[in-house]
Amino acid sequence: MSVQEYLEKHLLSRKIEEAVNAAVRAKAPDPVLFISTHMRRAAPAVITSVRARQILDGRGEPAVEVALHTNKAVHRASAAAADAPEGAAASSTRDAEKRKLLARAVADAVRVINDKVSEALVGMDPQQQAQIDQAIIDLDKAHHKAEIGMKAMLAVSIAACKAGAAEKEVPLYKHIADLVGKSTSTLPVPAITVINGGTHGGNRLPIQEIMILPVGAKSFEEAMQVGSETYHHLKDIILEKYGSDSCNIGDDGGFTPNISSISEGLDLVIAAIDRAGYNGRIKLAIDVAATDFCIGKKYDLEFKFAEKSRQDFKTADDMIEIYSQLCSGMTCAWIDIFSVHILILFMMLIFPFLYTLEYPLVSIEQPFDKDDWEHSKKFTTLELCQVVGDDLLMSDPERIMRAVNEYTCNALVLKANQVGTVTEAIEVVKQAKDAHWGVMVSHRSGDTDDSFIADLAVGAAAGQIKAGAPCRGECLTKYNQLLRIEEELGSDGVYVGENWRTSAGTS
Ligand code: PGA
Repeated sequence: MSVQEYLEKHLLSRKIEEAVNAAVRAKAPDPVLFISTHMRRAAPAVITSVRARQILDGRGEPAVEVALHTNKAVHRASAAAADAPEGAAASSTRDAEKRKLLARAVADAVRVINDKVSEALVGMDPQQQAQIDQAIIDLDKAHHKAEIGMKAMLAVSIAACKAGAAEKEVPLYKHIADLVGKSTSTLPVPAITVINGGTHGGNRLPIQEIMILPVGAKSFEEAMQVGSETYHHLKDIILEKYGSDSCNIGDDGGFTPNISSISEGLDLVIAAIDRAGYNGRIKLAIDVAATDFCIGKKYDLEFKFAEKSRQDFKTADDMIEIYSQLCSGMTCAWIDIFSVHILILFMMLIFPFLYTLEYPLVSIEQPFDKDDWEHSKKFTTLELCQVVGDDLLMSDPERIMRAVNEYTCNALVLKANQVGTVTEAIEVVKQAKDAHWGVMVSHRSGDTDDSFIADLAVGAAAGQIKAGAPCRGECLTKYNQLLRIEEELGSDGVYVGENWRTSAGTS
């Protein structure tokens, strides 16, 4: 083909002339840069291939990373490797070949992406998120998305979302806000993990996390300052009280002192808040992850004790009483007046200073077993705090619908890799918001270094984000991205602060 034929075939002379004219009209100070940008925009992005690989996550376990190629750039994404609870709508895939990486490898999922998913997405416009996600879903006819697997699916979907934002030349959170149909951007309150226990820490504390919510900060930046200072004061207090070997950290970056009760942990955190000078500006939250220590219908608060007293098997009603006490001493006393604890009430009235039971505890995640709908409802109806459904909901639209109808909890913890795709994640956020629930966008423990959920929390105006401690790279990548977003938004970005539950509004 001659040069002339080539120019004519691609209408190049006309396109170059248009670009030059546009540069002159714009009086572009750097015409070459202007013309190259102009020409780039003239060619729409299309997906040319999707390549996957196995990487390692924050726990050193295999996870899927995807590189989505368009005719213009490469967009990378990875999805947390943590598995979904049994019965989740989207399931996890690990290789049939069990010898490698302790049976956790994901080479099969990598192969499916490189072969099937890539072929299906080639030629698609990355801005069409819903169509892309539907194409991925259509490929997986297996029950619970078991063929491609939720993590692999989500990694492709997130990579496409990043490519869509790039093509629109807008920040990722803005692209997500467009997909959600929102025009305002809010910065979420971070639920910062400061103490780990449960299956995430090698201590005797039965619950998984104690978190601080700096609702009294004026900006996200200040919230992280408050969170970080409190975290470091907590370290000093633990060091003084329990010695240096108690300052190790757990899976979400929280400290793991060898405490065994929730109130012991909360007391340490209260002391740290006090020492940091942030009294009244921080609320507390706990993630009980009670499924992990539910044996039959009882809760074994000593599930990590080497030697058990056998005294600490609690019924679900006992657990309700414990939570009620933690949320509000007085509420508990008035409940108890009808039961056996009149003595406690009497003592409280005579010696009120002895009973400082009230913690600023505003949120309890997964307080009961994943299938204990009855007691979760009973506790939620007391309206003592935000009751967050994790294993109870599994980010599954059907379980969320049931929980909304029955008022089994009043907040969603969104783990996108339990849903499968960005479009489906946005749908469940809308579902929760329409029910006037709180929405907490969450990382997975031992996450990858992908910061997508930071943009998701802003774009979907979730109001709350949970990404672990102000420590560990995979946690900080989310918080640091939120710092960048806040800076970029300037006065257009509002930190939700005290409105952490209501800011989201309806969709
Ligand atoms: P998971 O826990 O990723 O281990 O389920 C995360 C959380 O609930 O904080």
